[in-house]
Amino acid sequence: MTPGAASALDSLELQNVIAQCAACHGAEGIAKDVEIPNLAGQHDRYLAEQLRNFRSGKRPHKEMRYMSRHITDEEIEALAQYYANIPH
Ligand code: HEC
Repeated sequence: MTPGAASALDSLELQNVIAQCAACHGAEGIAKDVEIPNLAGQHDRYLAEQLRNFRSGKRPHKEMRYMSRHITDEEIEALAQYYANIPH
């Protein structure tokens, strides 16, 4: 685990972010809608990379760009590890 990720994961703010993600991606990272990808069990490197790409606009997607606009690098790492560690 990268330094800082564990403490970021414990923060109330991150829990709030995860609750927003859950609206589309599901509480356990398994989406109910077929057009939304599952996040559970994906590689953390992959997830973090996608989030950075959504935030920068390199991977264009309206909703994910909007969702990622305020998240920090530390939160991206913590989110990636959170979803990567959910068994699927
Ligand atoms: C409004 C619905 C919605 C919300 C809320 C949402 N997402 Fe997404 N997310 C999507 C959709 C739709 C895609 C597929 C994007 C595409 O087609 O390129 C996606 C894609 C992703 C991907 C890429 C997955 C892959 O397999 O490449 C990641 C990672 C991700 N979302 C993480 C998050 C995180 C973390 C949050 C909370 C900060 C979040 N999403 C909130 C709808 C949402």
